[in-house]
Amino acid sequence: MANLIPEEKVDQVRTAVNIADFVGQYVQLKKAGKNLFGLCPFHEERTPSFSVNEQKQIFHCFSCGRGGNVFSFIMDLENLSFPEAVAKVADFGHIDLPASYTAQSQPATPKNQEQADLLKLYADSTKLYQHVLMNTEAGEPALSYLHERGLDDDIIKTFDIGYAPPERLLLDFFQEHQIDYQLLRQSGLFIENQAGELRDRFVGRVLFPIKDASGRVIAFSGRILKKSPDEPKYLNSPETKLFNKRSVLFNFDLARGAIRQNKSVVLFEGFMDVIAAYRAGIQNGVASMGTSLTNEQIYMLERVTDQLYICYDSDMPGQKATDRALKLLGGNSRLKLGVIQMPDGMDPDEYLRSAGTEKFAAVFSAGQQTPTAFEMQYLRHDLNLQNTQDQLTYIAAVLQQLSQLDSSVEQDLYLNQLGQEFGLDKADLRQQLRRVVGQQTVHQQQPHGGPPTPPPPVDMTPPPPTITGMAPDNGPISRVERAERLLLFRLLHDHDVWLRVMAIAGFHFVHDNYQQILVYAEAYFKTHPQFELANFTDFMGDQALQPVVTSLEFMDVASETSKEEVADLVNVIMNQQPVAEKINGKKAELTTAKQLGNNDLVQQLTLELIELYRQAQRVQQADNL
Ligand code: UTP
Ligand code: MN
Repeated sequence: MANLIPEEKVDQVRTAVNIADFVGQYVQLKKAGKNLFGLCPFHEERTPSFSVNEQKQIFHCFSCGRGGNVFSFIMDLENLSFPEAVAKVADFGHIDLPASYTAQSQPATPKNQEQADLLKLYADSTKLYQHVLMNTEAGEPALSYLHERGLDDDIIKTFDIGYAPPERLLLDFFQEHQIDYQLLRQSGLFIENQAGELRDRFVGRVLFPIKDASGRVIAFSGRILKKSPDEPKYLNSPETKLFNKRSVLFNFDLARGAIRQNKSVVLFEGFMDVIAAYRAGIQNGVASMGTSLTNEQIYMLERVTDQLYICYDSDMPGQKATDRALKLLGGNSRLKLGVIQMPDGMDPDEYLRSAGTEKFAAVFSAGQQTPTAFEMQYLRHDLNLQNTQDQLTYIAAVLQQLSQLDSSVEQDLYLNQLGQEFGLDKADLRQQLRRVVGQQTVHQQQPHGGPPTPPPPVDMTPPPPTITGMAPDNGPISRVERAERLLLFRLLHDHDVWLRVMAIAGFHFVHDNYQQILVYAEAYFKTHPQFELANFTDFMGDQALQPVVTSLEFMDVASETSKEEVADLVNVIMNQQPVAEKINGKKAELTTAKQLGNNDLVQQLTLELIELYRQAQRVQQADNL
């Protein structure tokens, strides 16, 4: 309500964009019954408890209790204000929103403010460094370096690439703009000496901005123009409040759409490889920060796709890294894996430049290897297969590899290959394979030793249907709260119920959050003839209440209500209400009776009071159920 965008406009944006499409950018959703399910983007989980209801245009997580409409989703996920969220959804739906709506900045908390200031600093640095690259004499060497590497001006702008020239300039620039010293210190853009003096961190380097999932610059990686033995080729920003390299993937913001379209992601070793692929039309590529994938990054990818291709350099270190990555991912994720290798030990960027776009793209469409095919090739690397001893070593290693496969059809395929290459009988090989599998089963039954048991396959089936009145936090709730939730649902959806219940003098909910929603609803019905959930959540504007109201929609309730049902619910709620009040009343009566010296009455009231205490205790126990 406190937002400046007119309600019609907010409605227009919300109704133009299907929440499933919008959320689908961040979460891979699968249909199950009338809802869509996926892995919740708000916490780490392996079984999907995040659900989207397209009909009602809302989402709800059964595990963490978050919920709301498309705006609350992105507000929560990216820490946006309401106008920012509306702008983002409008952008997704190609709806024009006057800039004045979003220009108004929200009052920020100190933490948000600090984060916003750092983001601004990085955004300004990005602009400055790009300006130097594109428009100044100092930038010329870097610009021709990039052009020589095949990056045209469009690509440079797409990736916001810039240049930090040999002479330092960033500190002066920000000091001229009177930016706070502490902020500059925290930004990681400067090096501090013992006297606390700052100096530009990046000098004489091409700068690749590292962006978060929403495309905001949070760090830089700087490449020197000419290799030097004294300096690292790439220099990265240190970790800051914005930048945690474990949870960042280069190009994830731009790639997300293409990942969804292609239903796969390609993981590269270097930024230049991601950019090369992008130039050749392969836009679903990302890279980690020169390290192997972390669990955080795996989670990010699992949310948007099922299929990951590793496309590391095809030299020996790259193949070793591929082998490591396959092992890591094989045990740690549910992603289906594949390997793409450039010919002749090249990295993707080198191959694109030497072979051209067509051949490069062909490797991606036709050159995909299964992990097993890759391993069968990789296992040869330090063996001489002319030598019988090495042959045996190789065959044993391959059989070991094949024993890990679930599919006997796939096993068969590779056993054929192996048999053909070494002139062996397939039946013999299969028998040997059975022995390897058998040994492993024995090993696994022993408490120690043997290869680690692979984790059980991840269950992608949706959670069981909702239980009536399930609480947002998934915990058990009392009979009273169950009644409150159902009644609130009826009140919102059935205006007859609303009129009847609101006519009951002194009706109110026991729990504050339901009562607050009721108060909002009262205001809402004054201006809105019909209840519409997604619109109501905006109307409330209260981020704490939105998930509560949304969770009601995910209860499994009968579509029809009855007078009896409503009366029962009201009874459960109203009877709960007065116990505390009755006790107070009784106490007052007791005091008076004592003052009057009416011993019979004192005795009677005491008994009644005890009964009330018992009642209160029962209610409390029920509440704790
Ligand atoms: P590479 O050395 O394979 O980079 O390192 P590249 O992409 O081929 O780079 P060019 O083509 O020579 O420009 C792969 C990744 O490892 C990290 C970077 O993230 C790089 O993209 N790296 C590499 C560093 O962080 N520091 C370094 O000194 C080198
Ligand atoms: Mn390279």
